[in-house]
Formats: sequence, C-alpha cells, structure tokens
Amino acid sequence: MTRDLIGIGVGPFNLGLAALADPLTELDTVFLEQREDFAWHPGMLLPGATLQVPFLADLVSLADPTSRFSFLNWLKRTGRLYRFYIREEFAPLRAEFDRYCRWAAHELPSVRFGRHVQAVTHDGPHWQVHSIDTRTGDRHTDTARHLVLGTGTPPHVPPVCAGLGRDGAPVVHTSGYLPSRDRLVAAARGGTITVLGSGQSAAEVYRDLLPDARREGYRVDWVTRSPRFFPLEYTKLTLEITSPDHVDHFHGLPPGARDELLAAQASLYKGIDGDVVDELYDLLYELDLDGPPPTRLLTSTELVGAERDGDRVDLAWRHVQTGEEFGTTTDALVLATGYRQQVPDFLAPVADRFRWDDRGRFDVRRDWTVDHEGTAFVQNGEAHTHGFTAPDLGMAAHRNSAILRSVTGREVYPVERSIAFQTFGAPAREEARA
Ligand SMILES: Cc1cc2nc3c(=O)[nH]c(=O)nc-3n(C[C@H](O)[C@H](O)[C@H](O)COP(=O)(O)OP(=O)(O)OC[C@H]3O[C@@H](n4cnc5c(N)ncnc54)[C@H](O)[C@@H]3O)c2cc1C
Ligand SMILES: NC(=O)c1ccc[n+]([C@@H]2O[C@H](COP(=O)([O-])OP(=O)(O)OC[C@H]3O[C@@H](n4cnc5c(N)ncnc54)[C@H](OP(=O)(O)O)[C@@H]3O)[C@@H](O)[C@H]2O)c1
Repeated sequence: MTRDLIGIGVGPFNLGLAALADPLTELDTVFLEQREDFAWHPGMLLPGATLQVPFLADLVSLADPTSRFSFLNWLKRTGRLYRFYIREEFAPLRAEFDRYCRWAAHELPSVRFGRHVQAVTHDGPHWQVHSIDTRTGDRHTDTARHLVLGTGTPPHVPPVCAGLGRDGAPVVHTSGYLPSRDRLVAAARGGTITVLGSGQSAAEVYRDLLPDARREGYRVDWVTRSPRFFPLEYTKLTLEITSPDHVDHFHGLPPGARDELLAAQASLYKGIDGDVVDELYDLLYELDLDGPPPTRLLTSTELVGAERDGDRVDLAWRHVQTGEEFGTTTDALVLATGYRQQVPDFLAPVADRFRWDDRGRFDVRRDWTVDHEGTAFVQNGEAHTHGFTAPDLGMAAHRNSAILRSVTGREVYPVERSIAFQTFGAPAREEARA
C-alpha cells in the first residue's frame, strides 16, 4: 500500500501536521515515533517552567482555530478551561503542554509509537521507510509519495566535553537533567556543581539548583562565554520576525548573508526570558541576607579543556576579553549547551536525492522541500535557510499549512503570505513579491 505521506519523528511539529491532516479524508498518512509514548523534552520538565510562546502557538490554532486538536479544546475536555481563563496567563506550563500533546497523539490514528526509523530508500516513484518496532523487534517498511522529516535537533556537547559523562560520571546535558538531578546533587555535596551556557535551559537549571545549595552544602558555578547573561528580546516589532515576510526575506539572501544575520540575531533565540533573569537576581538578593550566596557567576569565560580526575572534573577556562587562563575543579557538570541541527543517519541510502549546500547542510527550498523532486520536506532543520524561527512553535502551523498545500495541491488551510507591518527587504523587491 502506498500512502500519501510518512512523517518521521513525532515532536510538536509532525504532531501538528498529523492533527491538521487528520480531517482530510483524501490523505493517507502515517507518523512514526521511536519513543513508546509522546514526551516533550522530558529531561527539562521542571516545576513552574512555562512555554515561551502563547497558547495560540499550539498544534493547530494558527492554521485552524476550529480544530478539535486545539489547546483550548483539551482544556475544555479535561475540565480546566475556566481555571486557565482565571489564571490570565498566556503561556501554558511546559508540563501542561506535554500532556496536551500526548492527548492529541493518542487521539490520532495515524501516529505509531515504538517505531525507530533505521533507513530510508527510494524505489523510483516512492519513498520507503524502514523501521523497527522497539517492543517486538519486528521490522516494517512503509511506502509513500511524500516524506516529512521531523526528528528534531539533537543535544550539542562541546567537543572538549565529549565522553566526560561515561561510566555514570556526574556530567549531563540539560536534555537529561531531571533523571540525573539527585545524582548530580549527591556528587556535589561539600563541593561544586557547574552549569555551562547561558540560554533558557541553563537559567532554568540554575533556578532549580540554587535554592537548595546551602541546605545541601554545594556551590553552583554558572559560567558563560557570552559577555553577559542576556535576555531574550520580546518586543512586538521584533516578534514580527516570526512571520512569512521574514522567512521570505531571509530565504532570499545569499547563504553567507543568512549565516551572518542568524549569528547577529542571538538575543532573539538564545537568551533567557527576562522575567527569569529578574527572578534569579531576586533569589540572589534574598540568599545574600544570610551571607554571600553559595554561587559564582562568570561571564566572558570560555571552556577550553575538560578532564576527568577520579570522581571530579578539571575544567580549563580562558577569559574571552583578557585572554587570561585559569582552572577550576567541579564535582558535577551540567552542559546547558543547546541543540544543533543534524542530518539523520537514516537518510544515508538516499543522500543523492537530497539538495546540499557547500557546508553539507540541507539546501531547503522556500516551500520546505529538500530533495530534487520536491517530495521530501523538513521541519526544524532549516534555520540556516529560513531563519531562527525554524524551531519556533509559533511558526509550525504556518509551515504545516504550506506542506499540506504542496501535498494536496490545494490550500486546505489559508497560508498567510504577509502578516508584518514592517518591510524586511528593499521596498522594490517586496512590492514585486506582493
Ligand atoms: C526544553 C525546551 C523547551 C522549549 N520550549 C519552547 C517554547 O516554549 N517555545 C518554542 O517556540 N520553542 C521551544 N523549544 C524549541 C522547539 O519548539 C522544541 O525543541 C520542539 O520540541 C521541536 O519540535 P520537533 O518536532 O522539531 O522535535 P522534537 O520535539 O525533538 O521531536 C522529535 C522526535 O523525533 C523522534 N525521532 C528522532 N529520531 C527518530 C527516528 N530515527 N525514528 C523515529 N523517531 C525519531 C524523537 O524521539 C522525538 O520524539 C524548546 C526546546 C527545548 C529543548
Ligand atoms: N521553558 C522554555 O520554554 C524553554 C526551556 C529551555 C529551552 N527553551 C528553548 O530551547 C532552545 C534551546 O535552549 P538552550 O538553553 O537549551 O540552548 P541555547 O539557547 O542554544 O543556549 C546554549 C548555550 O550554550 C552555550 N554554548 C554552546 N556551546 C558551547 C561551548 N562549546 N562552550 C561554552 N558554551 C557553549 C551557548 O553560548 P554561545 O551563545 O556563546 O554559543 C549558549 O549560552 C531555545 O530556543 C530556548 O529558548 C525553552
């Protein structure tokens, strides 16, 4: 049986696509997920953590506000809609969003859990997706006309830290933080725990560790190579960058200019929520009542070496501005060093069907197709071609509407062309686009 579409990976992006495709009776789809159930970055489901986008950026609403898979419908069905209304907060809890997505996944017959995709091949007209059932070991091959890659971005471990966490050493990336927390704290008692990086994950882990530091008897060193613990910028004209207008502009730039622009936009996607920055300062202020807080905050400090020394880790640092080098020893290390786009290994057999740039990255077309024939799409693997909003939940409904337009040949959900008040390119070019 040849399906219309196979989605590989079921994070929020392909789950949103499955939800938007569900009412389309003309489409036969299947979505394969290696986990045995839905889980949204489970290692970071910290108490009190909220989404960084409003609930409208759920799986479907920005494409189809009437969809039964909306966050509001989930609240209604679970009897919590009035409580959400009275709470008057736009951002759902992360734990709540995780449960909402799990509910949607269970409502969707096209989603298959426990299916690890091992290879993709092509028989001429169709894609073939080879997966293994993680529970039974059974092998499956699914065939389809279209492929949508939605396998997310793997955790990034700095090369100097490669292998440090082997043999159960207390060194973890934030993606594995929660299940390791007790082990890290036990290792750090009477010593130090170091958090590396200054994005939102680092701030949330620091906020989680610092309040217990005195009682548990450890110090938290928070170190970033950035010149400051900078906030994410949320002002409204800047938020207009989350728009098809900016994707058009960004995609139209030459590759070198895109890379430069992306690097210059760090404070739009790499920083810390401003409220969390203030909350952390207030926590330090309160702890200071009883003497210097058990912590050190180091900026402009780059990690240049790391070596296991028995149960501890020796860290070598270089100050970015002064060039001074120094060392610290830590009893536990949390790598809050983010995530990186990576081409999935399972594409190796069909690599020649895909479009690549001169740095070995996907060369993604404006319509999110990435193979020569235009039948394979990528979600969240296109920051270098479409801009930093590639991992943004707020752009997912738009991207999924566009993917469904390509697959069905009709605009099932309206695909906005322009939503911004401002113009990102030169006016003449923008007028031609309109
Ligand atoms: C802690 C955290 C919080 C975030 N919060 C926000 C936020 O509030 N707002 C926002 O806009 N963005 C947020 N982001 C960024 C982004 O929205 C998320 O990373 C989002 O989960 C990306 O969705 P995804 O579908 O691309 O990938 P993922 O959620 O990573 O899902 C990919 C799925 O593919 C599966 N998979 C991988 N390989 C295979 C394979 N070979 N076979 C089968 N399945 C496979 C994985 O098991 C996984 O379930 C956050 C990121 C992190 C890390
Ligand atoms: N509650 C939430 O909604 C929530 C929670 C967590 C994360 N998120 C989102 O998820 C995404 C990822 O966030 P994140 O905090 O995990 O990652 P991130 O924003 O990419 O931050 C990674 C941090 O690690 C540092 N880093 C990377 N490599 C390094 C190296 N080799 N040596 C030293 N430092 C290094 C970076 O420093 P440089 O800047 O110097 O490279 C940066 O400070 C973001 O979009 C974030 O907003 C959301």
